[in-house]
Amino acid sequence: MTPVRTTVNGSAVAVQAVDANASLLDLLREQLNLKGTKQGCGSGDCGACTVILQDLGNNPRPRAINACITPAAAAQDKHVITVEGLADGDVLHPVQQALIDQHGSQCGFCTPGFVMALTAHSLADDAPKRCSREDIVAAISGNLCRCTGYWPIVSAGMMACGVGAAAQLSHLNGSAQNTEGHSALVTHAADAAHDYQIVHSESQLGQRLQAHAPGPASDAAPQLPVPTIIAGATDAWVAVNQALLQHESIIDISRIHSLKTITAKDGVLHIGACVTHTELLGYFSTAPQQSAAIQELLRRFGSPQVRNRGTIGGNICGGSPIADWPPVLLALDAVATLNSAGATRDIALGDFFQGYRQTSLMPGEYLASVAFDMPASWSQLSFDKISKRYEDDISSVCAAIYIDQQDARVRQVRIAYGGVAATPMRLPEIEALLVDRALADIDSVSLSAALAEILKPISDVRASADYRLQMATTLLLNRLAFERERG
Ligand SMILES: Cc1cc2nc3c(=O)[nH]c(=O)nc-3n(C[C@H](O)[C@H](O)[C@H](O)COP(=O)(O)OP(=O)(O)OC[C@H]3O[C@@H](n4cnc5c(N)ncnc54)[C@H](O)[C@@H]3O)c2cc1C
Ligand code: FES
Ligand code: FES
Repeated sequence: MTPVRTTVNGSAVAVQAVDANASLLDLLREQLNLKGTKQGCGSGDCGACTVILQDLGNNPRPRAINACITPAAAAQDKHVITVEGLADGDVLHPVQQALIDQHGSQCGFCTPGFVMALTAHSLADDAPKRCSREDIVAAISGNLCRCTGYWPIVSAGMMACGVGAAAQLSHLNGSAQNTEGHSALVTHAADAAHDYQIVHSESQLGQRLQAHAPGPASDAAPQLPVPTIIAGATDAWVAVNQALLQHESIIDISRIHSLKTITAKDGVLHIGACVTHTELLGYFSTAPQQSAAIQELLRRFGSPQVRNRGTIGGNICGGSPIADWPPVLLALDAVATLNSAGATRDIALGDFFQGYRQTSLMPGEYLASVAFDMPASWSQLSFDKISKRYEDDISSVCAAIYIDQQDARVRQVRIAYGGVAATPMRLPEIEALLVDRALADIDSVSLSAALAEILKPISDVRASADYRLQMATTLLLNRLAFERERG
């Protein structure tokens, strides 16, 4: 048995056995009988299952997450706060009281999720400065309500925002920090069909991957199952819930410190694979690496709940043709560093994507980081996303374009798209048509025709092939027009 510690609403909770493929929502509702947290979509889209996950200790960093797409075992050594934990005795949390005062709930199914998303917002250090209507809409962009309408919910969010100490859940913090003496809380049977391992260093990860590596066919020793690496699990757990995928063996790499760093050195930026989108939004919103293009990518990326757990490495390694980071990284000419036990190799991101959801990762390899030369000015990079819904939606088409121009002449250009082929793709043929040309001389008709020759998008539920081609063309022509205007 592997004893694991977790804390729920300030109290240690003992659970006999949790399956490796169970979600945190299963754990809360089915094993701990905390049914305030609701299940709606089971895929991170509705926010009904929102809870707060925070570290234990002095730097708790409370974050809203979707319990339905978070593995139960990922709560080890963390503090989970659910809607049941918010009231201090008979005194409701300011967010709960504001929802009552503003008539922000009708059937009530979505209400615990909204309460938790708004509470997480009110717990942020800078919450008092982020109480505008726009800020509150962003805070609840991962939550759906089908009957009340959003106006009273947003008003409640604005009312409760920035109430300071009253929102700080001090009745939970004292007990949550006292974790000494926790007994076995979440446990896995050693002989269980599935196992979930959290590794804390790259050397541990290397050892685990090596232990699971297939031996020679002649080897009589029993083979361990090939493990699935997960980071935030925002992609992997949708498959568990929706496709009923069961992982035999899971390695959780989200706590490896060396994979969670961002380093700028000699003009090159190195981003660890397990850096979350929320951490990246903080980084790219601060000078000197303030980038409007990357902020646009990240503000439109899923919801706060998804950004709080999802990582850049998971976005790349999922190999999705509509993932948002790969086009930006292709436009920045990024290089991926792939590690395995005792070996490391660099590969241009353009060579990393091999086919629909296929990457160059070999068995036993993992993505450690991506690196690129920082542009002389971040305004040389643009990112545009077309999706059916503005908030919390995956791209139908997205484009990332890097242009270095001087005296209205293109010196260097890199164009990359998502959603127009089986993989994210860069367009060297189109770049060749533009480089060394005066922006005023570029003929949009022949450029559109050249794009139509190269791009062969597919039709699916998100968009038709025709629409995708038109959008891809418009995004490029608009960017060139913008560059022409700024000269
Ligand atoms: C509601 C919702 C909204 C979303 N919105 C967007 C969006 O707007 N844009 C977008 O691009 N994506 C979106 N996604 C997809 C997903 O959230 C992102 O791709 C996210 O970055 C995945 O990161 P993760 O850490 O959660 O990956 P995981 O789910 O942990 O892993 C994804 C895949 O990558 C592998 N993997 C992860 N890390 C590594 C590593 N370091 N080395 C090797 N393999 C690894 C895993 O084995 C798995 O196959 C959304 C998902 C949901 C559920
Ligand atoms: S149940 Fe809909 S996001 Fe979790
Ligand atoms: S109150 Fe009914 S779904 Fe929101």
